[in-house]
Amino acid sequence: MSDANWGWSDRLKLQYAPMDETHQEFVILCAALSEDNPATFIARLDALIAHSVEHFEQENQWMNSHSFPPAGCHMTEHDAVLQVMREVRRRIVEAGELDLAPRLAEELPLWFEHHVDTMDNMLARFMTSEAASLATQPA
Ligand SMILES: [Fe+2]
Ligand SMILES: [Fe+2]
Repeated sequence: MSDANWGWSDRLKLQYAPMDETHQEFVILCAALSEDNPATFIARLDALIAHSVEHFEQENQWMNSHSFPPAGCHMTEHDAVLQVMREVRRRIVEAGELDLAPRLAEELPLWFEHHVDTMDNMLARFMTSEAASLATQPA
């Protein structure tokens, strides 16, 4: 069962504003997947995929430009979840497997919470410590 009450909360904040803002958008679009309206599911999934492409690209760019050590592992998680979203979309559209919709709506919040707690948390800490060290360097 998907949690209809799942949404943004302080529990997901990483104290890095650009990332927290993007994550609030992800949570809104992801929570919308649990609406019980099969006729609009693909449109809602497409909105989440479009957001995720930009969201992940932004984080990938931060990792590349700051030589973030575990970048490969983090990017692999982004690619994997996008692949799952696209595969679910394909199977619903091409094979009518609508039972995958509530399963995706149930699994994605769990994936996101784990990703935020691990990969994004490390990146946010890295970005804030980089910013702090730049601020204390002599001009
Ligand atoms: Fe993220
Ligand atoms: Fe990420």
